[in-house]
Amino acid sequence: MTDPQITAFDGPLAAVDTECLLLPVFQDAEAAEPFDELDTACGGRILEALNSRAFTGKKRRCLAVPTTDGVAADEILLVGLGRPDELDVQTVRETFATAFAVARQRNASRVAIAGRTEVGTAAETAATATEALLLGEYRFTRYKPAPDDMSTIEELLVPSGGGAAEAIDRSRAIGAGVTWARDLVNTSPSDKRPPRFAENVRAVAESVGLACNVIDEDRAAELGMGALLAVGRGSTAAPRLVILEHAPEGTESTAPVCIVGKGVTFDTGGISIKPSANMDHMKSDMGGAAAVAGTMRAVAEINVQRRIVGLIPMAENMPDGDAYRPGDLVEALNGKMIEVLNTDAEGRMILADALAYGVREFEPSHVVDLATLTGACVVALGEDIAGVMANDDDLRGELVAAGEIVGERVWPLPMFDIYDDLIKSKVGDIKNTGGRWGGAITAAKFLENFVDHTPWAHLDIAGPAYRTKSGPLAPAGGVGFGVRLLVHWLSQAD
Ligand code: BES
Ligand code: MN
Ligand code: ZN
Repeated sequence: MTDPQITAFDGPLAAVDTECLLLPVFQDAEAAEPFDELDTACGGRILEALNSRAFTGKKRRCLAVPTTDGVAADEILLVGLGRPDELDVQTVRETFATAFAVARQRNASRVAIAGRTEVGTAAETAATATEALLLGEYRFTRYKPAPDDMSTIEELLVPSGGGAAEAIDRSRAIGAGVTWARDLVNTSPSDKRPPRFAENVRAVAESVGLACNVIDEDRAAELGMGALLAVGRGSTAAPRLVILEHAPEGTESTAPVCIVGKGVTFDTGGISIKPSANMDHMKSDMGGAAAVAGTMRAVAEINVQRRIVGLIPMAENMPDGDAYRPGDLVEALNGKMIEVLNTDAEGRMILADALAYGVREFEPSHVVDLATLTGACVVALGEDIAGVMANDDDLRGELVAAGEIVGERVWPLPMFDIYDDLIKSKVGDIKNTGGRWGGAITAAKFLENFVDHTPWAHLDIAGPAYRTKSGPLAPAGGVGFGVRLLVHWLSQAD
């Protein structure tokens, strides 16, 4: 999709010159209110449609109503919100996205959406509609262009007033971050091996004004990033650590927030090789990296008023004559000795060095990492919900709350001391696996060894980072999960 034009309209709905005017209505509405004026202008057709058997106003149901000369729009699309007492912002988002898809299928390239107070303020409606359009209409076209005859929505009009214009800009920036994250996940793993992935991230990051520093394999060796290097050793493409920084004027010397994303560009499992069924999904094993890149892009474009550092360790986990092996002892950047028991537990290895580096170099106030880390987390919470594990109750609570608001749900798993025993090593400091049980938690416990006492939270996004089915807000493939959550959390005042 080329970037649609999104602007705010003023004046009566009957005068909005558009191909398709979307009217959000509740289930079993008996009056056209609050659209009485528009209903009068088109000779009572709205009320008539609301009373027809063809339309009940159930969530995400739509009905097209032809207009009369009194209305500038070519047609009206009634959009069901469901029952008013069950309305929440996720329903609004999904409903708007569905309505845009219906309007597009009806070949409308210019659409407008009416606001109503039950749904939100003008600014909220503008934000929700913008995000619903950008997320719902996203398509990945890098390897297969959209068919010529596919229509697209080129213009969206939203109600004006109360900060709508600012809300559009902000949501557009968030949409661009999510879109980029999805594109990165959907990219062929052969086209995003670490050196190339790093340069791609650098180019986009610098274009939006982020500072970017790429640590290559030689520098990583000088620094002592033994864990990152160990994982990268099985691949002919060397690992990287990409560091992005957003520091608005006046924040340069403040303690930043560090966000860290697992960037395994393809995970074969290494010597502890994975079964071949569904191994292609492991091109999404850089979903955390994509979320950090997308978030950094969005916070730069929005110019969020705080210092934020993004750290993205990148490696390809391959089996090879020089690959790291089960039994290896590997020294991480902070001097901890890791006993490798399973080369498929590679995400925590590369995160170990990135976390240790972030904490040491930036002395952050908070650290949040995102990683497609464990199948165990998907077993525990299902494919749609991310796990959150933290050493800080407030931070964990803030992330749960932010996720609920943006519709990217995360749910806590415990971090009791007893889990530490499962990863104690006899020959080193820690083992890189703690066995089958509590696998999501022992992975988080491993990471905790690399953040000192910095308030830290880990989001295991193995489930929601990649979808096999399409939904109203995302087609199958990369989701960009975490971008909207992080931007929301980072935008709140401390
Ligand atoms: N990338 C995988 C985790 C994963 C699994 C992500 C399924 C998305 C969907 C990770 O590197 C991995 O292989 N984890 C192992 C850890 C185990 C060896 C301790 C796992 O979950 O089996
Ligand atoms: Mn793995
Ligand atoms: Zn992995």
